[in-house]
Amino acid sequence: MLRTHTCGELRITDIGNHITLCGWAQRSRDLGGMTFIDLRDRYGITQLAFNMEENPILCDQARKIGREFVLQIVGVVRERSSKNIKIETGEIEIVCSEIKILNTSLTPPFTIEDETDGGDELRMKYRYLDLRRNTVRKNLQLRHKMAQQTRSYLDSKEFIEVETPVLIKSTPEGARDFVVPSRMNPGEFYALPQSPQTFKQLLMVSGFDRYYQIVKCFRDEDLRADRQPEFTQIDCEMSFVEQEDILNMFEGLVKHLFATIKGIDIENMPRMTYADAMKYYGCDKPDTRFEMKFVELNDVLKNKGFKVFDDAELVVGINAKGCSEYTRKQLDELTEFVKKPQIGATGLVYAKVNLDGTIKSSVDKFYDADALKKWQDKFDAKPGDLILILAGNADKTRKALSELRLEMGTRLGFREQNKFSCLWVLDFPLLEFNEEENRYFAMHHPFTSPKPEDVSLLETNLGAVRANAYDMVINGVEVGGGSVRIFNKDLQKKMFSVLGFTDEEAQNQFGFLMNAFEFGAPPHAGVAFGFDRLCSLFGGENSIRDFIAFPKNNSGRDVMIDAPSSIDKKQLDELSIALK
Ligand code: AMO
Repeated sequence: MLRTHTCGELRITDIGNHITLCGWAQRSRDLGGMTFIDLRDRYGITQLAFNMEENPILCDQARKIGREFVLQIVGVVRERSSKNIKIETGEIEIVCSEIKILNTSLTPPFTIEDETDGGDELRMKYRYLDLRRNTVRKNLQLRHKMAQQTRSYLDSKEFIEVETPVLIKSTPEGARDFVVPSRMNPGEFYALPQSPQTFKQLLMVSGFDRYYQIVKCFRDEDLRADRQPEFTQIDCEMSFVEQEDILNMFEGLVKHLFATIKGIDIENMPRMTYADAMKYYGCDKPDTRFEMKFVELNDVLKNKGFKVFDDAELVVGINAKGCSEYTRKQLDELTEFVKKPQIGATGLVYAKVNLDGTIKSSVDKFYDADALKKWQDKFDAKPGDLILILAGNADKTRKALSELRLEMGTRLGFREQNKFSCLWVLDFPLLEFNEEENRYFAMHHPFTSPKPEDVSLLETNLGAVRANAYDMVINGVEVGGGSVRIFNKDLQKKMFSVLGFTDEEAQNQFGFLMNAFEFGAPPHAGVAFGFDRLCSLFGGENSIRDFIAFPKNNSGRDVMIDAPSSIDKKQLDELSIALK
């Protein structure tokens, strides 16, 4: 080894010891008689001291060391005269007797410290330097620990990790596929898997019984803070189980991760139906760190002469407790917020329950004191509360109010990153109608089983069929989802026909699975967690990017290696691809 210790290791108890350290020169300070260098490695920072009087040649050498030079130093540990309590090695420093420059460095394009002066794009271009920073490195260490604990839990429950192929077949359902041309089969393409869904089901037919894989998935979709074109799932499947078994097993995984990684005991993992999530929170992934449930108001607010409410399909509101003192300016801000195109409401109605018990609304013209009292009762509003109401098309209004609820939750400090609220959302609709294509699509995927009691609705009311499908939601983030699968060939065939596939198309796309189902498929069910999302939640951040070593930017580019890139004519010819 080129070192005796790491840069995060030495303490006051090491005083007097002769040591050798290696690392990067983070910064140096020249104070005339003394020169100091902060030497950094993955484990921490140790201060090196050089005394002009005691060792002028070495001190001179130290002064010439640039940022990010790679050094090996030999010296003795001594107690610092001015201690730095912020770092673990802050009580000691090294009096150096030798410096060896193992490598020089160009001046880095941004400072490699916790607070850096580098913008996003620059840091992405030099990602390998960004990864030297504590904050980013810590995120990847967290990711490593989460992967270890996931494996340890699943291994203890008899799950077997099996790798599935990355070059597979393109299918029309789900998001867009990334495709890869096949040189040996001109004009034909592989697709990269959006998930190993069909393979894990085939592994159940093979009798593996309990499978998992921490696996890369690829989806060509628009990117957001919590979406990357290539991301990682903890993908799992079990045989001879019912929904309840899956919920318990994976509740166990999430509790294990919280306990081992964060030292947090998650006692409660409540369950909520999709229908209730939509009714009370206006979305299928409610942030339940706070209540502020929706209250529907059609019965008390409609037909009182206020056209906006009278014409609305749904009038619905929330009670922002303790906000009655909001100023005109604050209320205008909220109105502007709901009117933003991405929120899409036409306006905001409010009622303040003043501290003296009187009520004042923004539509007093249409509602007298008695009417306003009814509003107050509906919300169980107390003096000091602020009622916020939206109206219009039911789906759009719920969506907009859901955003307003989150905004109020943030303003009121209910959405702290170190508070966690987990829940299962159950009973998703099996199908959703796509207006553009004028047909139903599987809400989860085509292998999800309808609830047995809803199977007959497949003949009469497709929109009403509920699925044995579930999502795990933590702090308003969908961290995982899965379902009980169809394992009967006829029901699977029926599902494809409902989705508008002819027998021939179904056979062509998914024949391998339907054929496998003829050879004794066991009842099975599974789930997949978004591993990057879980890591960012545990790390207390919204963006998954900083939990991925080499992520893509919002246009799907890797700006460091400059991908995607064009390929030369010869390569294109080999692949039988002619560009327009
Ligand atoms: P689903 O499509 O719900 O289910 O995906 C499972 C989880 O993966 C995460 N996720 C993503 N994370 C980052 N970037 C993305 N682009 C992205 N897309 C999805 C989410 C999501 O909950 N095969 C099924 C699972 C099953 O039925 O067992 C599936 O892939 O956290």
